[in-house]
Amino acid sequence: MIIHEAKFIKSSPSFDLCPEPKFPEFAFIGRSNVGKSSLINMLTGRKNLAKTSGTPGKTRLINHFLINEAWYLVDLPGYGFAKTSKKNREAWEKMIYRYLENRQNLVNTFILIDARHEPMTIDLDFISWFGERGLPFVLLFTKADKPTKAKLQHNLKIYREKLLEFWEEPPLSVITSATSKRGREEVFSLIEHLMEED
Ligand code: GTP
Ligand code: MG
Repeated sequence: MIIHEAKFIKSSPSFDLCPEPKFPEFAFIGRSNVGKSSLINMLTGRKNLAKTSGTPGKTRLINHFLINEAWYLVDLPGYGFAKTSKKNREAWEKMIYRYLENRQNLVNTFILIDARHEPMTIDLDFISWFGERGLPFVLLFTKADKPTKAKLQHNLKIYREKLLEFWEEPPLSVITSATSKRGREEVFSLIEHLMEED
């Protein structure tokens, strides 16, 4: 996919304030520091489309970007801040779950997973939440340039085993790196394919 235009539309503090659902929408979410902003910037070929916030956990906004006047890319606030209060976490859950369950033009959510580590409960729980509701998602393993090949294979294997405890087939996944641009074409062909199906 050639990105002719990537335009910031709006940061919304709640589901009700999101822009009109007039384009197919693809959301990106993951644990704090998973590499979400870097990946969005890599995919769109823009250096600073998704801003890296200095204070993680503070901004809790749903960010809409319009790509090629054709589809929305949505940068969602991440989960798993060590320092977040219970109140903040509950507010995050309310907002995100409301969005994910009700956004009518949401075609797919990309759940980002740090390829440097073995599976974390918080990620597995989040993936299960999608499974329980039958909501579509694709896993994007991030920072794949960081671990050695062996370590990467090891982490992916453990993920697969963990996921197969709940799924008959492992969920669709793409290995990515913002540094090497790995996975870019694969993510875009998925988006194109899903838009045609929609
Ligand atoms: P928050 O918005 O703060 O939760 O973080 P984020 O998920 O947007 O992550 P961000 O893109 O800000 O990246 C976090 C750190 O990981 C930064 O230091 C990035 O330079 C680094 N990083 C992100 N992607 C990659 C990657 O593909 N490879 C490598 N080696 N480092 C990466
Ligand atoms: Mg970010």
